[in-house]
Amino acid sequence: MQRWQKRKTHYPIIALVFFVFIAFSILYNESYIQVIQENSDVSNGDEQRSIIQDTSLLNSAPPQIFNLSKKPPVGLDKFTKCASTVRYSGRRAVSAVRRSDSGGRTAAPAAEGCDLFSGKWVFDNVSYPLYEESNCPYMSDQLACHKHGRPDLDYQFWRWQPKNCNLKRWNSTEMWEKLRGRRLMFVGDSLNRGQWISMLCLLQSSVPADKQSITPNSELTIFRAENYNATIEFLWAPLLVESNCDDAVDHRMNERILRPDSIFRHSSRWEHADILVFNSYLWWRQGPVKLLWSNEEKNVCQEISGLGGMELAMEKWADWVDSRVTDPLQKKVFFVTMSPTHLGKEEWEAGGEGNCYNEKEPIMNNERYWGSGSDLPTMRMVEKILSKLGSKVSVLNITQLSEYRKDGHPTIYRKFWEALSSENMANPSTYSDCMHWCLPGVPDIWNQLLFQFL
Ligand SMILES: *[C@@H]1O[C@H](CO)[C@@H](O)[C@H](O)[C@H]1NC(C)=O
Ligand SMILES: *[C@@H]1O[C@H](CO)[C@@H](O)[C@H](O)[C@H]1NC(C)=O
Ligand SMILES: *[C@@H]1O[C@H](CO)[C@@H](O)[C@H](O)[C@H]1NC(C)=O
Ligand SMILES: *[C@@H]1O[C@H](CO)[C@@H](O)[C@H](O)[C@H]1NC(C)=O
Ligand SMILES: *[C@@H]1O[C@H](CO)[C@@H](O)[C@H](O)[C@H]1NC(C)=O
Repeated sequence: MQRWQKRKTHYPIIALVFFVFIAFSILYNESYIQVIQENSDVSNGDEQRSIIQDTSLLNSAPPQIFNLSKKPPVGLDKFTKCASTVRYSGRRAVSAVRRSDSGGRTAAPAAEGCDLFSGKWVFDNVSYPLYEESNCPYMSDQLACHKHGRPDLDYQFWRWQPKNCNLKRWNSTEMWEKLRGRRLMFVGDSLNRGQWISMLCLLQSSVPADKQSITPNSELTIFRAENYNATIEFLWAPLLVESNCDDAVDHRMNERILRPDSIFRHSSRWEHADILVFNSYLWWRQGPVKLLWSNEEKNVCQEISGLGGMELAMEKWADWVDSRVTDPLQKKVFFVTMSPTHLGKEEWEAGGEGNCYNEKEPIMNNERYWGSGSDLPTMRMVEKILSKLGSKVSVLNITQLSEYRKDGHPTIYRKFWEALSSENMANPSTYSDCMHWCLPGVPDIWNQLLFQFL
């Protein structure tokens, strides 16, 4: 934080660096910091030491007695280190994604002649919000903006209006009927977790309190509704394939290492779900990343761009979908496209300074608005891979509609795990979260789209 002393002379650069740091730490470190704080509650603030002790405990494991070269690859975890790093060799995770016979275009399930993903936001404080923030027991402190002091509540009152048709009205009973006897699982990062929480908030009030329960199991969290014999689950898998970030809580992430040829750690947990909703994007944005192939015995990593790494992971994921989804009516797979960020006000307002902090309305006058946070080459890559899967996957193309919602982020109105300095407090946009979304809010609409397609 000492950098701030110089901010009068180098303000724009320092502010940018600091902002990127904050953005990065919101995305990667929030839960880690929480763990440190929880540890410090018991260990009198001696956080550093408690972590180091954990590491040394691991190191003092008994010596291995089996033949090392026959040993199956050890799973990646936060202690995995690259012995050295070379450039990416060009190796692929799967030889080629098999083309399904249903192939061709990705199913964009839609009402007749209507693209549900293009349209505009309409202020509607009669039908929205679909639930009250304070009535949802599963609400997260990172998303409960009103509770954390957000004074303007209009962000809760917007309805998505597609151009040539209407979005189906949300009906919890009908949604539960679709879920009866089934498992709905969200798989991905904290943005996807937000959508999962939104789904719980949308649905929980129609289940009697004694018929609902939630089992936190860190990586996999399961909400059960007994009276419908149904579950709504969230699996933490920010990079889709196996990686050193797979611990849902403790994932400090300076060096992301992934195993592009190994998805079993996660797929073994999601394979029996009936409806799967995947996402992956923001964790690839701060490249490069490191690959550690499973037959690599000397921990030589290969470095690749975030986009390149994401493509390998998506190919491996697509290979799973292609081989395991035999009947798309029995097993429904959705992929949610990139969730936009609103980090630079100048992108939607000429000469604007700051970011999404203090934005109170959606972008209304620019149908083509597309911010720099939504990477087009990534979108093209995702499109290419999804299109090879034909009707085995449906796209929830939420990017454009969410781009308009510069007003929908928590900004400073959420729980922060790190202590805020007085400099931060004096300049709120420096620590605003312009990535996640307040609830009730934008992810409710993503779920309304999912409802329409089920
Ligand atoms: C371990 O396995 C490798 C390959 O199977 C073999 O060449 C080597 O001799 C084995 N080492 C020991 C100590 O058994
Ligand atoms: C809805 O918004 C209008 C216009 O801002 C306001 O006059 C009205 O009181 C609001 N109604 C409710 C139920 O909040
Ligand atoms: C919601 O769906 C249920 C079951 O399909 C139906 O009986 C009910 O009338 C619907 N409610 C509304 C408000 O449309
Ligand atoms: C509950 O759903 C599971 C599938 O998720 C099914 O195997 C089981 O038979 C169902 N139980 C009842 C009582 O319907
Ligand atoms: C999503 O929609 C945008 C336009 O809003 C389009 O450019 C993009 O290709 C679509 N992505 C996919 C994966 O279909």
